[in-house]
Amino acid sequence: MKQVFAKRMDGLGTETAFEVLAKAKALEKQGREIVHLEIGEPDFDTPNNIKEAAVKAMKAGYTHYVPAAGIPELRQAIAEYLSKSRGISVDPDEVVVTPGAKPIIFFSILALVEPGDEVMYPNPGFPIYESMINFVGAKPVPMPLKEENDFRIDNDDTAKKITSKTKMIILNSPQNPTGGVLSKDNLEVVADKVKNRDDLFILSDEVYSQMPYEGKHLSIASLPGMKEKTILLDGFSKTYAMTGWRMGYAAMRKDLAQRIAQLMINSNSCTCAFTQMAGVEALRGPQTESGRMVEEFKKRRDVIVSGLNKIKGITCRKPHGAFYVFPNVKSFKMESKKLADHILQKGGVAVLSGTAFGAYGEGYLRLSFANSVENIEKAMKKMEESLKEL
Ligand SMILES: Cc1ncc(COP(=O)(O)O)c(C=O)c1O
Repeated sequence: MKQVFAKRMDGLGTETAFEVLAKAKALEKQGREIVHLEIGEPDFDTPNNIKEAAVKAMKAGYTHYVPAAGIPELRQAIAEYLSKSRGISVDPDEVVVTPGAKPIIFFSILALVEPGDEVMYPNPGFPIYESMINFVGAKPVPMPLKEENDFRIDNDDTAKKITSKTKMIILNSPQNPTGGVLSKDNLEVVADKVKNRDDLFILSDEVYSQMPYEGKHLSIASLPGMKEKTILLDGFSKTYAMTGWRMGYAAMRKDLAQRIAQLMINSNSCTCAFTQMAGVEALRGPQTESGRMVEEFKKRRDVIVSGLNKIKGITCRKPHGAFYVFPNVKSFKMESKKLADHILQKGGVAVLSGTAFGAYGEGYLRLSFANSVENIEKAMKKMEESLKEL
């Protein structure tokens, strides 16, 4: 029989968080009470000044097509923000705005990676990386993030894996799902290996850049000679609790930015006009609410880490950034996926298996602490009860 779907679809993966969310919602429909620690989005509302800016822009007529790469005013605001926060000089022509940060991952891999090329990526890591690498027929080369290494890349292993076939290295710091933060020497090792290569790009996913819990965020783009080689990805979803607005962006060399804009023309035409004007307000307006949100996440981090460590059989490191914990559950001697399912079905707590983020996530769970302290405490009790049965 003739295959219905294009062969390339075989390689495409998914994001399990949405499947677990659907399962949890189905249980809620049956009357069960579920605590949601599966989805990676701030539980806070988008700050009011940003919402008001969107309404104002809509009323002022920002309801039509706008330039594919983004409204000039927003590209300017992003260029200024990235220049200041990363200590580099970014030009508005080097910025592309997309509906969420995800399309930048999609488009940069489409624009740069050929079948057979090697792409290095963190594992466990955001599942879209591996999915897209497979989709374009490239070879995924995992960079394992190990607990004993505080979920950072291993310098020697990383240096060894960079070959003449490597076309892209994906970095993500602060990291989803482990909460790990790459150290300066991690970034220097990569920079040192690639600084003389003009055929290799770094995709630096910095969507959690505003959420480091110790010290200041450091971008590989700010190391000498690295700006031209880096696609610096950031967005509004996590920093300003704007996941549903769909707005992300990246800075990269101008010729690549034009190619990504061309992919935008072929797919979306442009990012929603009035949300872009709200993005200008997000970057230029008061930062108090997003700062408050990060302070709150920091408090919750301590609550969830201490709660998990009190449960027999679980050990959990303190994450250094983002809003996730990645506890070790190896002592239960059960596949992580089955354990996550048990915790949902018996305990009523929706969590993700570490393997939702790649093979190196076996033996771990991912919990998001973008939920209230009350709900986190409730979840810990429910988890403990359900694990006693094993
Ligand atoms: C590491 C990482 N990159 C990118 C994204 C996608 O962000 P957006 O919602 O802006 O598309 C996420 C969302 O969970 C993420 O965790």
